Amino acid sequence: MLILGFESSCDETAAAVIEVTDGVFSLRSSIVRSQVDVHRLYGGVVPEIASRAHTEALSAITEEALSAAGVGLSDLSCIAVANHPGLIGALLVGVNFAKALAVRNKIPLVAVDHIRSHIAAANLLDSPPTPPYLAVAVSGGHTSIFSIGEDRRASLVGETRDDAIGEAFDKIGRRLGIPYPAGRGFDLLAQEGFSEMYGKRPDFDYVGHYLASPERKTMPPLPSPLLHGDGIAFSFSGLKTAAVNLLHRYSQTGEDFPRARFAAHYTAACVEGIAGGVRRAIDAYGAHDLVLGGGVAANSHLRRHLSAVVAEYGKALRLLPLDLCGDNAAMVAAEGYFAFLRGDFAGADLNASAADED
Ligand code: KG4
Ligand code: ZN
Repeated sequence: MLILGFESSCDETAAAVIEVTDGVFSLRSSIVRSQVDVHRLYGGVVPEIASRAHTEALSAITEEALSAAGVGLSDLSCIAVANHPGLIGALLVGVNFAKALAVRNKIPLVAVDHIRSHIAAANLLDSPPTPPYLAVAVSGGHTSIFSIGEDRRASLVGETRDDAIGEAFDKIGRRLGIPYPAGRGFDLLAQEGFSEMYGKRPDFDYVGHYLASPERKTMPPLPSPLLHGDGIAFSFSGLKTAAVNLLHRYSQTGEDFPRARFAAHYTAACVEGIAGGVRRAIDAYGAHDLVLGGGVAANSHLRRHLSAVVAEYGKALRLLPLDLCGDNAAMVAAEGYFAFLRGDFAGADLNASAADED
């Protein structure tokens, strides 16, 4: 069967076609129209601009996705749209577009969770994970750990109480003069810092090495984003504040600011927190393969360190290619397939919601 997916929750407008035959997923087309160049001028996403840009882009990218897949609307078995969480105006644009297309062409419509879609993207891998498995969704707005059961449902087992890891990179990145969204630039700057200390080494777990090394002590410690206790809960706001204070200290004392080393130090703190959450999830739910999804899943240091952590338990990190990490519509179509199987159809009264699903 062929599924057309739509994504419009934040600053990317996306449409994609996937095919699922006998439970095997394949990507037929994936079009992502990014708006970051516009939002960069303001240092972050401007909701009203995002909604307008989605409205302008949707028709064209739908045609592109269908034609790149070599299919027409009449070939589709289902249309899937992410209807939460995200910017409400932006989500509504995608929801209303998908709804109109589905009703007019009598195609079944399903609505899905954007965050769970990031994880469902793993079904598009050449060798997809088989449940049960664990998954981490790390993005500009979320830091969540899920357990995926035999029924393919992703149950939330832990999340952040405040800021997300992507926001933590974007905000501190901005202070370091990295343009929005700062994640990729931060990744490269941290790489410079790690390379200064350990040289350039392909596939090396720099964070794991740094955490156990004396170099770490040469900078003041940063608070862990993994909260104390047995549960799995993160908080990135304390880490962000401590990082800002450290930056102030450098500027006040006039000390030479080791920008790249600082980026490495901060990255290590972020990554160590996520890894700690994964260890607690493994303790609670058993050792399983781990899927890493969401925009921050592109972070090279997080990828390397989590690979090493799950390998300690004899399990594998199921990494997504970079174009399936950031927002895209193929992931929405993949999650939509499971909603379709469950018969979880949306009607003409489908709405959007800014809030998370539990
Ligand atoms: O999933 P996504 O595309 O959108 C949301 O759902 O939020 O994630 C965007 C986030 C941004 O915060 C961006 O800075 C971050 O992903 N990001 C990265 C990297 N590439 C993108 N963060 C760290 N390292 C990267 N290489
Ligand atoms: Zn996302």
